[in-house]
Amino acid sequence: MSIESADDNPTSSPGPNQAVGVDVGGSGIKGGIVDLDTGELVGERYKVLTPQPATPQAVAAGIRDVVEHFDWNGPVGVALPVVVTSGIARTAANIDKAWIGTDIYELLGAELGGRRLSVLNDADAAGMAEDRYGAGKDYKGVVMLLTFGTGIGSAIMFNGVLIPNTELGHMHVGKKEAEHQASSKVKEDNDLSYSEWAVEVSKVLAAYEALFWPEVFIAGGGISRKAHKWIPHLTNRTPVVPATLQNTAGIVGAAMAVVAGLRP
Ligand code: BGC
Repeated sequence: MSIESADDNPTSSPGPNQAVGVDVGGSGIKGGIVDLDTGELVGERYKVLTPQPATPQAVAAGIRDVVEHFDWNGPVGVALPVVVTSGIARTAANIDKAWIGTDIYELLGAELGGRRLSVLNDADAAGMAEDRYGAGKDYKGVVMLLTFGTGIGSAIMFNGVLIPNTELGHMHVGKKEAEHQASSKVKEDNDLSYSEWAVEVSKVLAAYEALFWPEVFIAGGGISRKAHKWIPHLTNRTPVVPATLQNTAGIVGAAMAVVAGLRP
């Protein structure tokens, strides 16, 4: 099942400021041991394929496989594409709808034994990581991360503190939800050029900045690797910078959440 593995076997004894972060996506469940002093992974990432259908039980077993790969008994943070309140998944994006209503701590507690655990939304995790260690680290005040992918994920931080579950991809901008107007899937599905797509992204960012007045937008998701092709075409007021942690942001943010004792 493993499609990416560590060169050397990482240590099982947790360092004082280390945790395992696991990021559950539509195609892969990725994890790593994170050093919270630096925001960097200790050793390699490890990834298993997301089971299909991605039911709670099947995904929980995948998360356990990732954690056990690291032979890890310390704290574990998990980022999921769901809204989490009181430990319950309230929505499910790109994973099985059976997640809705699931008590995530009960589910993962059974798979992960007595390990300390935090679960949070995937964009929230990425936002926390970019805010502290990545593209947001030199900004004070309100920092807003947006992940452009199949949908649009959002995270809002104020001086490093997350407001969880903002779900701004579902805000109506004009006639449509933002993510039906400006996700990277919309670009692909409609064969838009970067400059055409930037017109739609600008409308969405203008709507967000009118309400939240962030100091900066951080653009995440795979398409942020091509930031030079579309960020220059944006016409909204607030600066937009590409995410810098790329495919480790969710892992790092999940580890931050458990070390901080965050339980949205
Ligand atoms: C979901 C969010 C999620 C984002 C990225 C959106 O469609 O509503 O909860 O963070 O996709 O996965």
